[in-house]
Amino acid sequence: VLNWTDAATVDDVPTDDVIGMIVAGKDLALYSVEGEVFATDNICTHGHARLCEGFLEGHEIECPLHQGKFDVRNGKPTCAPVTEAIRSYPVKIEGGRVWLALD
Ligand code: FES
Repeated sequence: VLNWTDAATVDDVPTDDVIGMIVAGKDLALYSVEGEVFATDNICTHGHARLCEGFLEGHEIECPLHQGKFDVRNGKPTCAPVTEAIRSYPVKIEGGRVWLALD
């Protein structure tokens, strides 16, 4: 079973945009794309850049430092220079809140 952590309200995550937030001591990026919420680690796997300061287009987040990209649905790299996936987390929406499975 997944262990759900209450991370934010649905309204905290801006529509078709990204926001950085610390949840249970983890630096995370939350994305809202077409009404669905996704969560990944916030620090790029290529260097020390925060993805919440990057640019979200569709399901792709572009790193602000060297413009590498990840798919926010599964953390997979989609554009060089990133080669290593970023961790993504299961999300559920319940009672107007965003719950994350962080284990
Ligand atoms: Fe993100 Fe280089 S630090 S692409």
